Amino acid sequence: MTKTSRCPVLTIDGPSGAGKGAVSARVATALGWGVLDSGAVYRSVALAALTNKTDLADETALTALCADLDLGFEPGPDGIQACLGGRRLGDALRAEEVGVASSQVAALPGVRAALLDLQRAFRAVPGLVADGRDMGTVVFPDAEAKVFLDASVEERARRRYRQLKANGDDVTFDRLISDLQARDRRDRERTVSPTLPADDAVVVDSTSLGLEEVVERVLAVVTERVFDRS
Ligand code: C5P
Repeated sequence: MTKTSRCPVLTIDGPSGAGKGAVSARVATALGWGVLDSGAVYRSVALAALTNKTDLADETALTALCADLDLGFEPGPDGIQACLGGRRLGDALRAEEVGVASSQVAALPGVRAALLDLQRAFRAVPGLVADGRDMGTVVFPDAEAKVFLDASVEERARRRYRQLKANGDDVTFDRLISDLQARDRRDRERTVSPTLPADDAVVVDSTSLGLEEVVERVLAVVTERVFDRS
């Protein structure tokens, strides 16, 4: 246990497809901590909006939709499982259409503000692994340990392609590269909470690293920043 009475947080930020979900689930399981998959929070808003046929640019309607989200997460062997109203959302959340829509709704300041308290409520003992784009900069700026997980766009597209194909999705590699580039641009250049490393984040480039190596590096950051300082 740490000396601080506060609950420790590890933030893992980075672009789409850098492996944040798999790394977060493994690290959370190793530490016995909870997880927040904030991408799934934005994906859930997008999925609800697509289902209700809400205009993805209607900030007022989307902000109202955020107030009713009843989301939870469980780490599993294949990554983090999102549950809405106690029901597992499964693969629907990971569809490419939902990913693209989520980055559109995530660019709206009203939506981001409406989701802040929901995300912060995940901070609970013995600790939290928070995965996203702005975990270390905006949602948990006081987090004890921060990692920014990056990888080349080609490698991220290759990983996403394998994942989507395994789920039976009909995608092409070229379309994935251009979707990822468009999403990176929107996420990095938006005025609210752009995807950038926090000043005190450790940057890990996973382009040529396996999952185990990344998990080891992230656990080393937690050991140094949380446990060694206890
Ligand atoms: O990580 P994932 O691809 O599931 O996230 C889906 C989208 O949600 C991202 O493209 C990004 O636009 C948005 N997002 C965000 N802030 C976060 C997490 C995700 O803007 N903390």
